[in-house]
Amino acid sequence: MLRQYWQPAALAEELDGERPVVSVRLLGENFVLFRDQAGRLGLLDRACPHRGVDLSFGRPEDGGLRCTFHGWLFDVDGRCLDTPAEPEGSVLKSRVCQPSYPVLERNGIIWAWLGEGDAPPLASLDCLEAPGQQVFAFKGLWACNWFQAQEVGIDPSHASFLHRFLEDEDEQYGLQFRAQLANTGLASTKLLREVPNPVVTVQPTGFGFRLTALRNFQNQFTHVRITNCVFPNAITIPMSGEISITQWHVPIDDTSCYWYAMFVSYGQPVDSSKMRRQRIGAVELPSYRPKIGKTNNWGFDPVEQRTKTFTGMGPDINVHDQWAVESPGAVADRTKEHLSPSDVGIRMHRRLFLAAAENPSQPNLIGKSNPSQRHGPAAIDAVATDEAPDACWRKADRERREISGWAPPLTD
Ligand code: FES
Ligand SMILES: [Fe+2]
Repeated sequence: MLRQYWQPAALAEELDGERPVVSVRLLGENFVLFRDQAGRLGLLDRACPHRGVDLSFGRPEDGGLRCTFHGWLFDVDGRCLDTPAEPEGSVLKSRVCQPSYPVLERNGIIWAWLGEGDAPPLASLDCLEAPGQQVFAFKGLWACNWFQAQEVGIDPSHASFLHRFLEDEDEQYGLQFRAQLANTGLASTKLLREVPNPVVTVQPTGFGFRLTALRNFQNQFTHVRITNCVFPNAITIPMSGEISITQWHVPIDDTSCYWYAMFVSYGQPVDSSKMRRQRIGAVELPSYRPKIGKTNNWGFDPVEQRTKTFTGMGPDINVHDQWAVESPGAVADRTKEHLSPSDVGIRMHRRLFLAAAENPSQPNLIGKSNPSQRHGPAAIDAVATDEAPDACWRKADRERREISGWAPPLTD
């Protein structure tokens, strides 16, 4: 079923180095991704169709990728252009074809379509349609099944605990929830601490579903936080007043996944080199595996847990989420769970997922739906005093879209 949706296969920056060839493992299969000298992208099965060696060690030359074992040459469509070790006049190359897959580049990510039939257009999401200077993309490796990763993003109540800061400081990298809430003089982290039990509801949409988390603060106002499940394996959440994050959780195989995040700004252009600098030091390349993880207890420090953060795992909320999804084990045992009313998003996603897995061709959700439909989605924090929460966040989202100059109104 996941193959019926465009999936992130690599960051565009992975092809920027010495050699535009990268080894990709996606949905349990091995591929090679490369850019030819004409700039065209190709995604091919990784095992050479001659004797099975790894084509990601191939030479990008002569209009394709040349296998380093006997020199067979393949173009971006998988056509064999040359079999130089064969006798003069051999027509073998006309009979050989390597499986290839549609691939395209958009806003820092290279997308692959592994599905059956014609590839649909990319979904009309803000992060995919925004001008390039409004978007920054990055990725990271998590050592767990992708479904666990997806579920952390559709669980609005954990922010009051997992991401709790015991003090209110100014916002800096990784320290989300420190900004002041509009017109309240209150840091959002304080609100999250003081109102730990939001009222969470879900509403089905054309892209999946929207989560609304309401936190009433001392009967003075209601904080509205809008997050989204972009079915089947992405979420969209607010990062700051200007920036939303859409994050895909893409299976590498059953026990590991990549998150691919697209940060889209509705205000000032993003400072991509600064955002990359802030993140690149925390991962190993070329795997984008975080340096902090299970092997070093996710950086856990008991003194910090007593004095600074709820987790004791530093200020970076990415690390908190990583612990939350990795510590149950690579494939969590869900038979031992006790889902609660605040897990309404998790229940909804599991229902949708099981239904779609039983009928993967059903054209009902994003990627298959009407490409002219503008999904957004809206991911925003708003403060409602007199008006209804729904009207309040819609107004805040409408204003932000108008100011952006590029984001169309929501139709969903
Ligand atoms: S194995 Fe690739 S050319 Fe022989
Ligand atoms: Fe989180």
